[in-house]
Formats: sequence, structure tokens, C-alpha cells
Amino acid sequence: MEALKIEGGRALRGELTVQGAKNSVLPLLAATLLGSGKSVIRNCPHLTDVTASLDILRHLGCEVEADGETVWVDASTLKTCEIPEALMRSMRSSVIFLGPILARLGMAGMCHPGGCELGPRPIDLHLEALRTLGSQVSEGPDGLRCAAVGLRGNDISLSIPSVGATENAMLAAAVAAGVTTIQNAAREPEIVQLQDFLNDMGGDVRGAGTSVITIRGTGGAPLHGGEATVMGDRIVAATYLSAAAAAGGEICLSGVDYRQLSPVSAILAEAGCMVKSEGERIWLKRDPATPLKAVRPIRTAPYPGFPTDAQAPVMASLCTARGATMFVENMFSSRYRHIDELRKMGADIRTEGRVAVVCGVEQLHAAALEAFDLRGGAALAVAALAAEGESALCGLCHIRRGYADLAGDLTALNAKAYYAEKE
Ligand code: UD1
Repeated sequence: MEALKIEGGRALRGELTVQGAKNSVLPLLAATLLGSGKSVIRNCPHLTDVTASLDILRHLGCEVEADGETVWVDASTLKTCEIPEALMRSMRSSVIFLGPILARLGMAGMCHPGGCELGPRPIDLHLEALRTLGSQVSEGPDGLRCAAVGLRGNDISLSIPSVGATENAMLAAAVAAGVTTIQNAAREPEIVQLQDFLNDMGGDVRGAGTSVITIRGTGGAPLHGGEATVMGDRIVAATYLSAAAAAGGEICLSGVDYRQLSPVSAILAEAGCMVKSEGERIWLKRDPATPLKAVRPIRTAPYPGFPTDAQAPVMASLCTARGATMFVENMFSSRYRHIDELRKMGADIRTEGRVAVVCGVEQLHAAALEAFDLRGGAALAVAALAAEGESALCGLCHIRRGYADLAGDLTALNAKAYYAEKE
């Protein structure tokens, strides 16, 4: 079994351009289904979730080419409306394909995505949005079936600002007949990028980044191909800032909009790091001789609140802070699986339901670790960078869903990190 080995206790130094964002590229790839013509997506990160998405697009009948970090998709030849179970299982976020397949072909079918590492993952809001646009939706033992004789624009009101449901509704509404408004829409930057791409494909979408999005549909006609350059990944950036906060040193990250990182950088500054930003660059400096200090309670929330995806990496960095920090995980029920692993390294963390309290310890020590989910796994790498000795981290399949080359990136930032077979 392959492991990521990390030798702790070295300060991080250097500059790095952050990879393209997983949570942006996946809806962009789904959007290409709406185009009759070739779309090009640049700065596409090499992630297993991206490979799985491209396999799904090929299965549906699209022509797909990839060269380096550029991907071309032509959905003129789209012919299949079903995603088989094996492809569905290879990527949790595959429900994002439901809206565009339905919109293009009038039917869509897939097995139920079910739960995931973070606990139950309901899709009721996705299905409700599609029903509101005029689709019939049935859920049976064979999975989900959607059918519509022409989708019609309508008012969709989300009870939770779900990122995926907002995206699915935008995708379906872009080629529906008439105007759709999405109330209580998610406001994540990835949704703004999806809007820009849909508009580049000839769609008419406004309001992304606010909680009301208005989409004027084409009345059934497909869009044309479009172009997008995937934005830098704010969660990967938050992971590396947490890593430098944990290990000490001075790093500079580029290719990511610092404003999207402000909930995380504000916390790291409060913990005693020096954080500076300008344009698409952000610097973090922390004297390895001066420990971090505990911060006010961190509560995860939809954007622009503190991102649930950054909870684990920031928690890892605060394991050696002076004092106690409280975390409240409001987004997912099962997002503390990294805590037992952090305890193996000597961390003092207590949990009660959605609350975790981290009491800083003087020093973490290396351990044999296992990643159980994507961001929790990255958090273990953050802790290992601050620990004494060499840790071995398994479960890399989870990490590769969202980090193109974690060892390579950490090495570029002066860490000793490499892949090896676990003895
Ligand atoms: C997206 C991100 C993920 C991030 C999450 C929250 C992608 C590919 N993934 O996931 O990295 O952690 O946003 O910022 O962009 N919910 C329902 N019913 C639904 C849909 C969601 O109850 O139909 C609930 C979820 O259980 C969760 C909350 O809404 O408690 C937010 O989930 P959502 O925003 O939909 O997350 P994802 O889009 O799955």
C-alpha cells in the first residue's frame, strides 16, 4: 500500500502556484453537456474526480480530449442519458450531471448517490429544484429517473443554500423555456465561475455571488461551446496556509484570490501568523520559535462564512497552539474522523456532537496515519509537518480526489514529503 511519508519539524519556505479548484472544475465539466460544440477548460487539475468526470462524459457520448491541464469536450454527440453504477460510485459529486443530461435529452437516470465519508448526503433539494422546473422524478430500487417534456422556468426557493443544488438548478434552467429565479442560492465563488462559463456558452445567467440568481433559458435549444480557466483552489490554499502556520516559516501562494480566503486567513492571523495579501498572492509568515495561540470559536457556515472544507486543516494547525479552541461543524454530521488520527500524534481534542475542543499541546509526534476523507486526510499531512519524526499517511485515494500532487507541493515548500510503499 502506498503511503505519503512526511518528516516533521522543518519550517516551510518558498512560493507555489495553487492548482485549479476541484469544486469549480466539476460543475464546469457538467456544464459542457449543455453545449452543442466544443468547449475548452484550462487549468484543469489532475484529480481522480476529474478523471471520473471525463469518463462519465465519454460514456454519455461526448468527445473528450485532454492535454496537460487543458480539456476539450464536445457534447454535440451526446446520446446516452444514463450513468451506470460503476461510474456513479467513482465520484460522489456525479449528481451534478443530472440537471444537464435531463435538460439536453429530456430524460436522465442514475443510481442514488447515497452517503459518503462525511455522513448522509441528501439530494432532496436537487430533485425538488428539477421538479419545480417541470421534471417528473422517481426514486426506486433501480435508482433515480427524471423525465420532462421540455423544462419550464420557475421560481426555486432553496431551504438551505446548497452549492450542488444551486448548480444543478442553474444548469437545467439555462436551456429551459422562460425565466428561473433561485432564491437562497449558494454564494460560493465557484458558482460565479459557473455563471461566467454558462454565459460564455451563450446562456443568460445573472446574480451569482448573491442569494438570488436569475436564469433566462433558451427554450430548449442547446448552448454553444465555451471557454473557461478554472479558478485557483481556495481550499488547497487554505490547507497550505494551515501547513505553514503549523510548521512555521514563510510561504507565498499565487493563483488564488486572497479575498476568498479571508475567513481562514483572519483565523490564522488571530493565532499569531503574519498574513499579507495583494491581488492573486498571499503570504504567511510564522516564527517557528513562537507557538500559535488559541482563537475564538470557529463555526463552519456557507460562503462567505468559515468553510467546512478548511475545518480539518485549520484544526490540525491549532493542535500545538497555546490554549483551547472550540470548533462547531454546522455543515456535515460526520466531519471529525481526522480527530482520532490527530490523537495518535498526541493531540488533545474532545468532541461532543458538532463541537470539538482542541487543547493545544507542546509537541505532536509522528505516527502511522490513515485518511478517511479528502480534507481530513490533508489535515493529517498538516499535523505531520509540525510533528517530531516521520509520519506515514495511508488512504491516499481520498486525498487524490482533491490534491493533484500533495507531496510535490509540500516539497516545493521545503518540506520533506514523498510517496513510498508502506512497510
Ligand atoms: C459542496 C462542495 C464541498 C463542500 C460543500 C459545503 C463541491 C463538489 N463540493 O458540496 O466540498 O464541503 O459544498 O460547502 O462543490 N443538503 C441537503 N439536501 C440537498 C443538498 C444538500 O440537505 O439536496 C445539505 C447537506 O447535507 C449539507 C448542506 O446542505 O448539510 C450543504 O451541502 P451542499 O452545499 O449541497 O454541499 P455539496 O454541494 O454536496
